[in-house]
Amino acid sequence: MKILITGGAGYIGSVVTEECITSGHETFVVDNLVKGHREMVHSAARFFENDIADKASITRILDENDIEAVIHMAAYSLVGESMADPSTYYHNNVVAGLELLDAMRATGVSKLIFSSTAAVYGEPKEQPISENALLAPTNTYGETKLAFEKLLMRFDAAYGIKYTTLRYFNAAGASERYGEIHDPETHLIPLILDVAEKRSPHASIFGDDYSTPDGTCIRDYIHVTDLAKAHVLAIEQLGDTSKTYNLGSGGGYSVKEAVEMAAKVTGCEIPVKIVDRRAGDPAVLVASSDRIKAELGWKPELTELSYIIGSAWKWRRTHSRA
Ligand code: UFG
Repeated sequence: MKILITGGAGYIGSVVTEECITSGHETFVVDNLVKGHREMVHSAARFFENDIADKASITRILDENDIEAVIHMAAYSLVGESMADPSTYYHNNVVAGLELLDAMRATGVSKLIFSSTAAVYGEPKEQPISENALLAPTNTYGETKLAFEKLLMRFDAAYGIKYTTLRYFNAAGASERYGEIHDPETHLIPLILDVAEKRSPHASIFGDDYSTPDGTCIRDYIHVTDLAKAHVLAIEQLGDTSKTYNLGSGGGYSVKEAVEMAAKVTGCEIPVKIVDRRAGDPAVLVASSDRIKAELGWKPELTELSYIIGSAWKWRRTHSRA
């Protein structure tokens, strides 16, 4: 299939591009490189440095390359930043995405995979979280993703654009080629590996008074390669019915467990400081991924936290960074 990946120069996008190529798809990447990195785009993908808000350029790219399906991953994804600057988040995650959908309509491209997030659920009452849980985001980031999900529903009903929405839990780890680089970095695993590498003196644990066994928050870490494989299955099996799936490993690890595992995997000391809770962090977020397992035959394979953290560590040790 000829697939266009928006945001293919980002952390998750680079691994999704890699998996599409490995699965034999002709792969095209569009990224404006505001957050993405040119060197993270697989050499077998054709790259376009464009903004998805530029409808004329995207229309031309879709048309000239006979694109059959789009994986839409280009977005801003920091919760804190989204609260400080909602305008930018609504523009990038909703308005620009709307331009992309209009370009798809103009060129008759009717298949889309959308990167959504566990943040659409806010602070759910029940764990593990199923796709039927209440949608109640507590931050602008989650709201923009939910807004786009709703938009997709309307575009399906009115214009026949078929989609699969994938709600990611905590993507982590690295493939052999691609790993996580964010600036600024806010995610737990890269931050604790910064401490192992002595790039920072200690890790901060955001609160140890949650109602969890060790008092720190529990998250469902999913290896980025498992996540990427779900995109390939989703695009290959997308038919006449649009779908929404959670994507997690189905297990939860606490912040303290992640720090301890990182110390074990790296053999380095990781000093921690307990600091105040971070606003808007739910105590526990664990996915039920039963629906995607049953319907698409997806199965996470790299579920051990030691492997997830180990792969991120290995990638760092083999890819020099400033
Ligand atoms: N944490 C710390 N210290 C840090 C960084 C994080 O204790 O320095 C904790 C957080 O409080 C949280 C856990 O580690 O409990 C994981 O935090 P991350 O920032 O790595 O990930 P989040 O769970 O906050 O965010 C992820 C995605 C978001 C998405 C969210 C859904 O990265 O895009 O899940 O709730 F919105």
